[in-house]
Order: sequence, then structure tokens, then C-alpha cells
Amino acid sequence: MDDFGALTKSIEAILAIQCANYKEDYIKRRISSRMRLTGKEDFRSYLEFFKDNQAEQESLRNALTINVTKFWRDREVFDIIHKEILPDLIKRKDRIRIWSAGCATGEEPYTLALMAHDMTRLRPNVQITIYATDIDQEALRKAKNGIYDKRVLENLTESQIRRHFSQKDDGKYEVRAHLKEYIRFSQHDLMSGKAVTGNLDIILCRNVTIYFTEAQKNELARTFHPALVSGGYYVLGKTEFLGRDVEKLYVPYNSLQKIYRKNDGMQHRSAITARIPARG
Ligand SMILES: C[S@@+](CC[C@H](N)C(=O)[O-])C[C@H]1O[C@@H](n2cnc3c(N)ncnc32)[C@H](O)[C@@H]1O
Repeated sequence: MDDFGALTKSIEAILAIQCANYKEDYIKRRISSRMRLTGKEDFRSYLEFFKDNQAEQESLRNALTINVTKFWRDREVFDIIHKEILPDLIKRKDRIRIWSAGCATGEEPYTLALMAHDMTRLRPNVQITIYATDIDQEALRKAKNGIYDKRVLENLTESQIRRHFSQKDDGKYEVRAHLKEYIRFSQHDLMSGKAVTGNLDIILCRNVTIYFTEAQKNELARTFHPALVSGGYYVLGKTEFLGRDVEKLYVPYNSLQKIYRKNDGMQHRSAITARIPARG
């Protein structure tokens, strides 16, 4: 086995990340960037370093999973949005705004668009807009194209694939226009202190803040608060937490699935200065 093979074997054993699921080129690029940052010249010396260094193991895990996402990622969370939250919003409102913050390659906003499309057939006058943003231009480009390998669609039923995707000549699947129409993609840095728009009914910011400091995470929760409508939902990743400094801004809706609602009793300074203009 060559040095690269030994390294991927070690990554699989230590990080439980299946390198074979990724393109080799992608893995090599991410490892090379860690090698540059840690001053290791080749795979062998990086492997020796990686094996016994827990901090580096975490850094490589983050580097490898930076854009990782899935359709219907964490099914329970999306089931709650699908079966409880969206039906309630659709019943009460004519205009619904959702923000997928840190949308990576688009699977999360397309999952939401798919639900929205199926549900608004019953109330066609409801207008739903999904704002999908990321800092990474390359990921956004892929998201906008909406073209995926079949294996990426594994969480979707055959019927969903048939209705919402068209198969291309090269065998890949492209999201159909009727779903793309729900989504407005744009580049946005979550550390900018600004929300993409106001009057949001749901903000999903999931699995994004792994590199953020506690202070940055808290600032993000403060930025989201005035951008949400009264009682609006804030959905975190399953392993993410609201910091103590900001937990009063939200009340748990489903603690296990990390779904919160805006606590309207708590006004944060940015709500008063209203730095986020509400748009259309
Ligand atoms: C692991 S993906 C999460 C995708 C999706 N939310 C999910 O849970 O499946 C994390 C994404 O956050 C984006 N990201 C990281 N830092 C960011 C920032 N400061 N502003 C906006 N996006 C950021 C990355 O580019 C990446 O696409």
C-alpha cells in the first residue's frame, strides 16, 4: 500500500470518514492544504503527525467535511418542519420566508423547496421564498446548477426523484425548474453581522459554525433574532448549542432536534437599531 493509501486507511479508522465516498482529488486537495499549514512535506510525514495529534485530527475532519450536506439531512428535523412547522405556517400566512444559511451545495434548500412545492399545491396562493446563502462561491455555483449524482439522492424516494429531477445525458440528475424557482441563492458571510433579509419565518443554520468562536456563535444568534418574525423558528445542527449569553433570545420548540422559536419578550440591541431592512 502506498503512503496515500495508508493515510486514507488511518483517516477511516480514526475519523470514521469513508474516503472512498469522496473523489480522490478532493481528498488530496484537503489533505494537501492541511500539510501546507502543518509544514509536512509528504503523505508519510503527515500520517505520522496526524496519527498521534488529536487537534490535527479535528482540523482534518473539519477540512474534509466543510461542504458536506445531504438531502433530508437528519430526517427527524426535516420531518418536523414538513409535518408541523410548514403546515402551520401555510395555514396562517400568504407569504413565507425561509433562510438556509450556509447552504453548501444546495441539498438543504432544495429539500425545503420540495416540501414547499408539495404542500402549496393545496394552497397555491401562498408564496414561499427560500433564501440560500453560503460564503463559498464554488459550493454556491454547484447549488445553483442543482446537478447531482444519483448516489446523492439516496434519501429521496423514486417518486420524488421522478417528479422533481430530470436525468441528463451523462446520467446525472438536475433539479427541475419548478423547485429552483423557490430559491434565491446569494453569497453571504455569516460573520458579517447582517441577515440576508428580514421577516423570516424560519432560519436554518445547521452544521456551519464549527470554526466559529463562542463569541461569533453568540453574535450570529443575536443577528438572527431581529431578522425573524414574531415566533419565527431558528434551527441549529444536531450537535450545535445556543450559548448561555443568547439562550434567552429563543425558547425551545423541540430541544432534541435543536429547533427554537424567537422569544419576543427579549429585545436585542440590533432589533432596536434595525440594521436589517425588511425586503419584499
Ligand atoms: C457542512 S456545510 C452545512 C450545509 C448544510 N447547512 C447542512 O447542514 O447540511 C457548512 C457550510 O457552511 C459554510 N460556511 C462556513 N463558514 C461560513 C460563513 N462565515 N458564512 C457563510 N457560510 C459559511 C461552508 O462554506 C459550508 O458550505
